[in-house]
Amino acid sequence: MIKINECYTEIGESYLFAEIARRVGEYKENHPDKKLISLGIGDITQPIAPAVIDAIHKATEEMANAKTVRGYAPDGGYDFLVNAILKHDFLDRGIQLEADEIFVSDGAKSDTGNIGDILSDDNWVAITDPAYPVYVDTNQMAGRKIELLPCTPENQFVPAFPAKTADVIYLCYPNNPTGTVLTKEQLKKWVDYALEHRSLILFDAAYEAFISQPEIPHSIYEIEGAQQVAIEFRSFSKTAGFTGMRAGYTVVPKALTAQTAQGKTLRLNALWKRRQSTKFNGTAYIIQRGAEAVFTPEGREQIRKVIDYYMENARIIRSGLEALGLTTYGGINAPYIWAKTPGKLTSWEFFDLLLHNVQVVGTPGSGFGRSGEGFFRFTAFGNRENTLEAVERLKIIHI
Ligand code: MLT
Repeated sequence: MIKINECYTEIGESYLFAEIARRVGEYKENHPDKKLISLGIGDITQPIAPAVIDAIHKATEEMANAKTVRGYAPDGGYDFLVNAILKHDFLDRGIQLEADEIFVSDGAKSDTGNIGDILSDDNWVAITDPAYPVYVDTNQMAGRKIELLPCTPENQFVPAFPAKTADVIYLCYPNNPTGTVLTKEQLKKWVDYALEHRSLILFDAAYEAFISQPEIPHSIYEIEGAQQVAIEFRSFSKTAGFTGMRAGYTVVPKALTAQTAQGKTLRLNALWKRRQSTKFNGTAYIIQRGAEAVFTPEGREQIRKVIDYYMENARIIRSGLEALGLTTYGGINAPYIWAKTPGKLTSWEFFDLLLHNVQVVGTPGSGFGRSGEGFFRFTAFGNRENTLEAVERLKIIHI
């Protein structure tokens, strides 16, 4: 007899973005003449940087030649990419890491979801609320107990420490969905908490490339002691438009250890290596060559322009919403604008209002957790024309 993982009966029937896609699909079917504008899922609209495309073309040609064809990629990623990451994202920023602490993958979603494989289901997990749904969903799938840490205007979106000492803490900064950030001092408090309580911080830095204020940390390893307590996740998806190509990486420092139930100390780096080499066969060579090009001078310049383009969209959305009298947060160091819904509308009511009246799709805040109720997320990843049109359309609803 087949027995299922009972935890799946406890979680919502569908993943947030799948549910939105379902509702939008249904609306489209019933209103084929309407033009929808999506400022919902954080998916890219601008072409991939030419430097990346050139590298991918070149790598594709290599695959057509017996002398240069490549098969399975090394588990942790090709040296050419790992070394580029190491130099540009860490050593050049004064962070000392080693190549074997970096694991190239198919993206931060997989890694933030899979990291639980190396952690006991007995861990008490603290997750900021609202949050990227993968953190809560995957911990519920494993049956772990979760404490949510509200992040609201009342606490300036800075989470308080959990009531019960947490073994594992998820932090995502710049934050998805609120678009807010932590200063170095605020992040240091969490690193100190983790050092004191021997907790693990899972730090999702997928949006670090969107930071515009120089004092905001790009990596948790800018904080002293963080290598003993934190794993960091990075993504090429938002930085360089890899949502459809898939590449990211995870840093698991060798200084980071955890205990077995018998009190034996093990390195999480070794466990993650073991997990990845068993369950993952590497990111495609062609894509890794594309990711390498992200770090070339041309690649960096081209990618900066695309990020600036998206952040100008963020400014347009923010000021458009504020002109309508809505209170907004984020959108300065992150490509997300978090808006208070008008009046007493719930997040899903506002979603329906926008979909049905002006055909603009956003993401209901409550989909990211209970502290997201009464909020709505807009993404800056649209094209300029649609972003401007969406803001125009919003003006006709009386909010
Ligand atoms: C989002 O819209 O929150 C993200 O694009 C989803 C993701 O990165 O998986």
